Amino acid sequence: MIKNICCIGAGYVGGPTMAVIAQKCPHIKVTVVDLNQDRINAWNHEDLSLLPIYEPGLDTVVGEARGRNLFFSTEVDKAIDEADAIFISVNTPTKTYGVGKGMAADLKYIELCARQIARVAKSDKIVIEKSTLPVRTAQAIKDILDHTGNGVNFQILSNPEFLAEGTAIEDLFAPDRVLIGGDTSPEGQKAIQKLVDVYANWVNRDNILTTNVWSSELSKLTANAFLAQRVSSINAMSELCEKTGADVNEVAKAIGLDSRIGSKFLKSSVGFGGSCFQKDILNLVYIAKSYGLNEVADYWEQVIIMNDHQKRRFSKNIISTLYNTVSGKKIAFLGWAFKKDTNDTRESAAIYVADDLISEQANVAVFDPKVEADQIHFDLNYLETRSDSENKKYIAIESNGYDACKNAHAIAILTEWDEFKSYDWQKIYDNMLKPAFVFDGRNLLDGEKLEKIGFIYQAIGK
Ligand code: NAD
Ligand code: UDX
Repeated sequence: MIKNICCIGAGYVGGPTMAVIAQKCPHIKVTVVDLNQDRINAWNHEDLSLLPIYEPGLDTVVGEARGRNLFFSTEVDKAIDEADAIFISVNTPTKTYGVGKGMAADLKYIELCARQIARVAKSDKIVIEKSTLPVRTAQAIKDILDHTGNGVNFQILSNPEFLAEGTAIEDLFAPDRVLIGGDTSPEGQKAIQKLVDVYANWVNRDNILTTNVWSSELSKLTANAFLAQRVSSINAMSELCEKTGADVNEVAKAIGLDSRIGSKFLKSSVGFGGSCFQKDILNLVYIAKSYGLNEVADYWEQVIIMNDHQKRRFSKNIISTLYNTVSGKKIAFLGWAFKKDTNDTRESAAIYVADDLISEQANVAVFDPKVEADQIHFDLNYLETRSDSENKKYIAIESNGYDACKNAHAIAILTEWDEFKSYDWQKIYDNMLKPAFVFDGRNLLDGEKLEKIGFIYQAIGK
């Protein structure tokens, strides 16, 4: 029976996942470790509104379990030593150097974890891949553990995480399924059962799926590829809708009622963002290419090409609608996060749209209810299009939506935060330059109501 869990990586996955395991399994001690002292300090912050990540409901779960059987620490060796099961939940970003640059997953953090476990472990351990990894990574982890270990036995399991940010706690409380892949040997099956027993504390056993380790690893990449593909598919249709007089929301509803298609994940938008979709598809493309499967690679790469196009055409449309120049004009951004109910901005469409507009010398004023100013500056600088001081000349970060929109030529909705719907749009209109434009990248607002006020309103796919 698993009694002591260590999780390496206190990020968007490690933090919430372990908090829920600890809350649901008071008999298991869960220690989440990270190299980043600031992040750990934030997880330990007395004021639960200052946790390092924003997720609805997370504060309550952490509040209940922290100090009881949930601990956050930077003492990685100690936590590894004490644990019988170790989750690896570190980041696996796209490589930015060397072979596979811009495509392959960078596995250096994973390998470091494996080597650290090998060095420290003095008793048998179950090592669980929670990070999203290329298929067959478990073999590499096993090689490292078996060749540099202290003669102890390791079982490697794959247990990919399917939570979506913004709904992480709901998703963890009631997952569609939990997937656990392991070795087909009796020892592998025993390890799988031990992890099944942890989840069975709150998840129905029928929803806990066990497979071989390769199927599990590949299922995660496949799930993200299929989900992203749906968004790119509906976004492709949105452009055709704009040319033909069809309405993408009506099309999405009409096809979604077909039970074979289903209604979820058909919301047309300014393009998908987030740390996962692009990274995981690029990784899939790279893996396919490495096996010489060029048609498979090209097929999936098209999902990314379409998404890049969707972001680009949103900014191009703003420029052409504003009489082909945005130089010196104020464009207000409502939203910067990649979706609502999160403070995560990784790969957010807003970053790319802002970059395009700044290249045209627009003044961009941003308001996001949960994203800090430093993060916005960091995101823009990360693109390396221009210097930090140059970026700062063109971007202003406001503490509320009304100030962001004041004296603006146009408003762009980049994130679908609920609060934008309840704004006093008449007041916003009164304080803007005329003609006043709204470019709704999320099809969030009531276009008819806005047009009645006097706005020129443009949505996606209409
Ligand atoms: P993250 O960047 O938020 O967190 C990763 C953490 O790992 C960081 O705090 C980092 O300091 C820490 N870390 C890195 N190397 C370390 C080491 N050697 N020792 C200790 N700590 C170390 O990343 P994330 O969003 O939580 O994603 C983690 C993994 O989960 C990725 O593989 C990702 O693809 C996958 N995933 C993410 C999501 C999501 O919604 N974010 C969902 C499903 C799966
Ligand atoms: C995704 C997967 O959903 C999740 O299972 C996996 O574990 C991690 O990656 P996440 O990126 O957190 O989760 O959020 P998700 O809800 O999938 O949204 C991703 C992006 O697609 C967001 O930018 C979102 O706005 C966009 N999106 C989503 C659309 O544009 N339209 C949709 O219909 C759905």
